[in-house]
Amino acid sequence: MSHVNKAGTFTLGARRVTRLGYGAMQLAGAGVFGPPKDRKAALAVLREAVASGVDHIDTSDFYGPHITNQLIREALHPYPKNLVIVTKIGARRGEDKSWIPSFSREELTQAVHDNLRNLGLDVLEVVNLRSMFGIHGPAEGSIEAPLTVLADLQRQGLVRHIGLSNVTAAQIAEGRRICEVVCVQNLYNLAHRSDDALIDDLARDGTAYVPFFPLGGFTPLQSAALSDVAKELGATPMQVALAWLLQRAPNILLIPGTSSAEHLRQNIAAAGLELPGDMVTVLDQIATNSAPA
Ligand SMILES: NC(=O)c1ccc[n+]([C@@H]2O[C@H](COP(=O)([O-])OP(=O)(O)OC[C@H]3O[C@@H](n4cnc5c(N)ncnc54)[C@H](OP(=O)(O)O)[C@@H]3O)[C@@H](O)[C@H]2O)c1
Repeated sequence: MSHVNKAGTFTLGARRVTRLGYGAMQLAGAGVFGPPKDRKAALAVLREAVASGVDHIDTSDFYGPHITNQLIREALHPYPKNLVIVTKIGARRGEDKSWIPSFSREELTQAVHDNLRNLGLDVLEVVNLRSMFGIHGPAEGSIEAPLTVLADLQRQGLVRHIGLSNVTAAQIAEGRRICEVVCVQNLYNLAHRSDDALIDDLARDGTAYVPFFPLGGFTPLQSAALSDVAKELGATPMQVALAWLLQRAPNILLIPGTSSAEHLRQNIAAAGLELPGDMVTVLDQIATNSAPA
């Protein structure tokens, strides 16, 4: 049994995927902008992920922009039948690497077509609408207008399933009045647990929760408690952070991002890492201890 299968599976839209997937954002250049510093290595990471059993890749056409999707296409097209590529729309990139909210009907429609073209697909399996009321975290505001556009694109057959990203519980409820919401992608990890209650609610509904920054993102997780647990288990701190997410709730799907084949292997191996209950208790305290006063 390959390591990745040890993570188990969960339903994402109409598909059953392994809970240990891959996030492609790290493949673009610095600041998620421009080409990768090592193009061959980026293609090799994608191919190795899929060869290792990863069947869920998270991406966006605004990574690069366009470049990450073009790498995915070059590395993996024609895609294996079981591969689910999830993308997101709602922003575009400025020349200065900025992230610019893009919610007009024209921009959202263009974004879906850009993803289709650059990924080489006729239909996108799952598209997340990325709320931009807050750049770094969810903020309230109606998503009705942009989600209605995405639902129209779904009715036209360009999109199979819809998810939401960087959203509040109220926005998810609003979204469900417009279309089916198959997944939620928000910031969540060992040290950042604002979504604890939301994850449990979504688990009860059978909705996938896909934490972004599972390893801490641009500032990878660092904690003495995490390092101690990792040492005791003969694992790396990042592997423990991923194993903790896998045991946290059955609807959590992982998309750790890496540009390194070595890190990819370590992340996949985390699927086989069992955390004893006493260690989970220690790890559970990290968020409490790192919460702002
Ligand atoms: N919806 C949203 O708003 C949103 C926002 C951000 C990200 N995302 C998605 O979520 C995915 C995951 O987020 P992310 O890539 O930003 O953050 P992440 O997975 O939390 O962490 C990535 C960072 O950790 C490093 N890393 C990965 N594996 C490691 C390992 N085994 N040991 C040590 N370091 C390791 C990576 O560097 P190396 O390349 O050197 O390994 C990179 O610096 C993205 O790829 C993207 O698809 C979505």
